[in-house]
Amino acid sequence: MNRLIYIMGVSGCGKTTIGKLLAQELNIPFFDGDDFHPESNIAKMSSGQPLNDDDRQGWLDTLNNLAKKQIQETSCVIVCSALKQKYRDHLSRDIESKTKWVYLSGSFQQILERIYSRANHFMPSELLKSQFDILEEPKDALQVDISLTPEDIIKIIKSELMETSEFGLFGLGVMGKSLSRNLARNGFKISIFNRHVDGVEVNIAKNFKAQFPELSNASAFDDISAFVNSLQQPRKIMLMVNAGKTIDFVIDDLLPHLSENDILVDGGNSNYKKTKERIAYLKAKNIHFIGTGISGGEEGALKGPSIMPGGDKAAYKLVQAYLETISAKDRNGLPCCTYVGPEGSGHFIKMVHNGIEYVEMQLLAEISTIMEASGKNPDEIAAILDSWKENANSYLLDITASIFRKKEGEDWLVKKVLDKAGNKGTGNWTTIASAELGVPGTLIASALFSRYISFYKEERLLLNKTFKGVKSSKLNISTNEILEAYQFARIINHYQGFKIIAEASRSYSWNLNLSEISRIWTSGCIIKSTLMRDLVEIFMETSNLLTHPRLIKKIKKYRPSAKKVVSQCLLNDITTPALSESTQFFNGITTAYSSANIIQAQRDYFGAHTYKRLDDDSGKNHHTIWD
Ligand code: 6PG
Repeated sequence: MNRLIYIMGVSGCGKTTIGKLLAQELNIPFFDGDDFHPESNIAKMSSGQPLNDDDRQGWLDTLNNLAKKQIQETSCVIVCSALKQKYRDHLSRDIESKTKWVYLSGSFQQILERIYSRANHFMPSELLKSQFDILEEPKDALQVDISLTPEDIIKIIKSELMETSEFGLFGLGVMGKSLSRNLARNGFKISIFNRHVDGVEVNIAKNFKAQFPELSNASAFDDISAFVNSLQQPRKIMLMVNAGKTIDFVIDDLLPHLSENDILVDGGNSNYKKTKERIAYLKAKNIHFIGTGISGGEEGALKGPSIMPGGDKAAYKLVQAYLETISAKDRNGLPCCTYVGPEGSGHFIKMVHNGIEYVEMQLLAEISTIMEASGKNPDEIAAILDSWKENANSYLLDITASIFRKKEGEDWLVKKVLDKAGNKGTGNWTTIASAELGVPGTLIASALFSRYISFYKEERLLLNKTFKGVKSSKLNISTNEILEAYQFARIINHYQGFKIIAEASRSYSWNLNLSEISRIWTSGCIIKSTLMRDLVEIFMETSNLLTHPRLIKKIKKYRPSAKKVVSQCLLNDITTPALSESTQFFNGITTAYSSANIIQAQRDYFGAHTYKRLDDDSGKNHHTIWD
């Protein structure tokens, strides 16, 4: 990756000399910021007047544009006083994570002496004081003492910037390993770490590095302190460890080795509330914390996952280039990685992503079961699913077709898999969040509870003997009707999932962009689909999917099939909770006068909870003695 090295400090600190030497050593172009001042600035400085912020605007823009243009071709060194943080922010705008700052520091006296000994400089030495007055020492720069010889200064800069790693990966499980290889393949100099546990986890990082040629430049560690010290400051460390308590243990292990402004990125499926707490906990210690969802499984992590970072935006800017580079790309070539929003919003949307994923999986399981009940064998089911790709393609549809085709000897492997579905908790959290936010995420709940029901295997076996179902030979549904019911339910699933996100955004003031969220889910992630692609445009026009003309048309077309499939399944004792719920939910959300009047009357009857009346616009609460 090309880098921009800014060398900064007050006038007279020697930055031009150091900058030229460094550029020469690294064989990259050198630019002196002073050469880009407009005439008016030079005249002002020469007449002994200091520049004000307005004078600097155009100049900072010029340098920032120069840097952005230059970095597309090659690395370079630019020297510039850049005394205030806002100047530095301006100079590194849009290229934050590709920018390295070197601060040449010296005392007023030391620099004054240098200036006196220098001829032909347009800045009179009296202006030095004003420079020191406005100097805000950078926190995230490599600070080098100007009393060292230029050769030593160059050595320090080179070893810090070139020999240390720019990004650290902590935890080499399946995802950590794939992400490390992805980062290394993209040309990033990384450090990788895995803990040492006697006799259990030994030399994991070193052995892993030895296994893959793309990791030849990576530094491998099982010692936390050495790992942290191998990283350039501010350090950027991605944690790929188990969600939950482990994250807190890891944070506490890392903390003594970290410095102010270092950035931790939690790439696991952490709970968004915990992420918010961790951000606050670390903020008090001046450490930044970014909670990022990462989707795509092992292969996605290796080839390009969908990445959903949330937290401090300024800190995100410093890891943006890494995350965007390793992410999947959408059909326009844009990274499937975007800054989601503050607090735990990145982890929140990853959680809802998983909720939507649970439903998509459940629906595929249900429609396959219906086909099976209609007498289709796994190969035939796979063929039908393949034929649906034209209109209803998705990653999950695709893998389900492959699953049905997989044989072990003469038998289909899928028929040998124990019918108890596991889960790691994100569907559970989405259901809780949905209830807490007051959003009817009924399909997610039904997909989650279907997994729970599956777990009651012994009880199911027992009860099956007592309550034998009817034979399903009387099923009267066409394959196309199943497809339409499936499509119907998927629209409802996405409606509900995005409703949860929209409500969280409103309730937590996250200002989330639904179109952008669907865009980063069009590639790299588990729920990528042609429907998701459509949503990118649809969400530009409305935040309510059920009001968009394109989806209204589809719903009207698919609904009769959905009703038929669900009722046929009910009559034939075929379990289709998610399909059924999609029709029930749709009935509910499209009912003008619901049965909630009766609930209100009941509440008022037994608890005097009061009710409002349709014929009283004042909104007053009424109470009645009902018997
Ligand atoms: C992904 C997946 C991934 C994983 C989850 C869900 O987006 O890559 O969602 O995060 O599959 O762990 O798993 P459970 O089904 O075990 O809850």
